[in-house]
Amino acid sequence: MTAPSLNPRLAGVRSSPVRDLLALTGVEDVISFAGGLPAPDLFDVDGLRAAYDRALSGPAARRNLQYAATEGDPRLRSLVADRLTRRGLPTDPDDLLVTTGSQQALTLLTTALLSPGDVVAVEEPSYLAALQSFTLAGAELVGVASDDDGALPEAVEEVFHTRRPAVLYLVPNFANPTGRTLTLERRVRIAELAAEHGVWVVEDDPYGELRYTGDPVPALAAQPAAAQNVLHLGSFSKIGAPGLRLGWARLPRAVRPAVVVAKQAADLQTSTVDQAAAAEYLAATDLDAHVAGVVAAYSARRDAMLAALEDALPVGSTWSRPDGGMFTWVDLPGGVDSAQSLPAALREGVAFVPGESFFAGEPDRSTLRLSFTTHSPERIAEGVSRLGRALRA
Ligand SMILES: Cc1ncc(COP(=O)(O)O)c(C=O)c1O
Repeated sequence: MTAPSLNPRLAGVRSSPVRDLLALTGVEDVISFAGGLPAPDLFDVDGLRAAYDRALSGPAARRNLQYAATEGDPRLRSLVADRLTRRGLPTDPDDLLVTTGSQQALTLLTTALLSPGDVVAVEEPSYLAALQSFTLAGAELVGVASDDDGALPEAVEEVFHTRRPAVLYLVPNFANPTGRTLTLERRVRIAELAAEHGVWVVEDDPYGELRYTGDPVPALAAQPAAAQNVLHLGSFSKIGAPGLRLGWARLPRAVRPAVVVAKQAADLQTSTVDQAAAAEYLAATDLDAHVAGVVAAYSARRDAMLAALEDALPVGSTWSRPDGGMFTWVDLPGGVDSAQSLPAALREGVAFVPGESFFAGEPDRSTLRLSFTTHSPERIAEGVSRLGRALRA
């Protein structure tokens, strides 16, 4: 008998330790800083329930339960385009494809842009599920070095020259896992480099609206040099709720037909009723006010975590001070492997994600990611003090 085989590319894809650790968030008295979860207490349950009710009432109800266009609900695309335009990225509804979360956009882009063996340049460290998606597409990942101001333009230029990537993947605002933001100066330079070398840039921006300090930085997609090179991804997950599974891709004209075909092959379209409810919600709700509430809560949680780290971490530790988003990135002193400390941390009743999984190349094992969004400032202080005990043990 011959056993049927699996796609051999799966062998190169690590499962997400974050997803495995998510199971722990339900365990009593483990304070988990592991999952990248928005705070459920801040979801606008009443507003969303009312929006779904409207989407499923009257004559529109039957239309909203029917198949619909692959590109997405025209009203939703128009509302999202207005929002992007108001935030400084001029967008026409026709520029947008609605996706089932921005994670689906990542998968569709790999299908549309990559052939097996193509090189994808990724800021190091990077979002794990993007690395998974590129690896499954058969791409070769090449890391681009970064510092506190994001990816280094010199490193981008070097990789463009030596490896000729098809795609550069960046999370320019409050990155996952580091919390870092790419400066305007670097955005301008990277946009010029992408145009000069003919490289697609995937600008993944689920966190951009969650800014607590400092001024917004214009998107890479808004840089005139690279207007035709940048695919800009957004999502309702962090400003609305991730269970909606709604995101969007703002696409240069040249890639739109290919991405639409990829989406037809993947799922025909994103849920009609979810899109209609999101459109109802956006039309009726002051989303800016809702986001302001989320920002106020997360900002206090970030401050609590940064203050607590000061006292708790071993001398010589460093960590990022994000202006927004959900994460801080810690580097431990003395060549410690953070994964080795995870069992002790769990025994103390705290969880984090070891940094090793976020690297395309050789991992920096002394790093770890902490999410500060889901706990009160008091629980954060308690969790960080447990973490300090575990790391010193
Ligand atoms: C950088 C980044 N991109 C994409 C996603 C996926 O988000 P969505 O819920 O929109 O699929 C996440 C989720 O954590 C993320 O951190």
